[in-house]
Amino acid sequence: MSAEPELEDDLGDRLGTRGMKRVLTAHTRQDTTRYAQFLAAQLVPGDVVLLEGPLGSGKTAIVQDIAAAIGESAIPNSPTFILANLYDGGRLRLIHCDLYRLADLKEFMDLGVVDYMEDSVTIVEWGSMLRARFPDHLHIEIVPLVEEEARELRLSSASDRWIKVLEAMEFGTLAVMS
Ligand SMILES: Nc1ncnc2c1ncn2[C@@H]1O[C@H](COP(=O)(O)OP(=O)(O)O)[C@@H](O)[C@H]1O
Ligand SMILES: [Mg+2]
Repeated sequence: MSAEPELEDDLGDRLGTRGMKRVLTAHTRQDTTRYAQFLAAQLVPGDVVLLEGPLGSGKTAIVQDIAAAIGESAIPNSPTFILANLYDGGRLRLIHCDLYRLADLKEFMDLGVVDYMEDSVTIVEWGSMLRARFPDHLHIEIVPLVEEEARELRLSSASDRWIKVLEAMEFGTLAVMS
């Protein structure tokens, strides 16, 4: 097991001293879809997934893959003016938020989305402002690599359930926060 100090420090800062991370490499768009399908199979109502990564890194792509994997026929996108969309055509209700234009947590709370989160899976682009408010979230940082379709997907969480999922995954590199 190897730890990357930069990410470990980052996670330690916001989550305290415990947690787990797994780093996956997607060489192609299709690889990302496979990882998203794996994650989709783990999701339960109440889950919060926070996606971070630069513009065009694949945050919306992962939401689209997860939506398809749970049987939703509509294809999520990141609309210019709408901050949250609800999809209830799949085996789970999905809330997709893009908080790029939101100033702070209060603005998010004012949206009223929270009322639906307990019964839904909520996936949030640019959702770093929600980290402390939803401490059991799964965090996914997407890091574009040199080759066009290559991405590093850095999954991390401090919640017991996600820690078990990250430990059980049979691909990528696992590191423990202690
Ligand atoms: N491995 C990959 N994973 C995710 N997206 C990829 C990958 N390779 C290429 N892409 C492409 O990168 C783009 C990502 O766009 P998008 O998901 O809208 O990014 P974001 O929401 O992060 O701004 C899409 O056109 C997608 O097809
Ligand atoms: Mg997007």
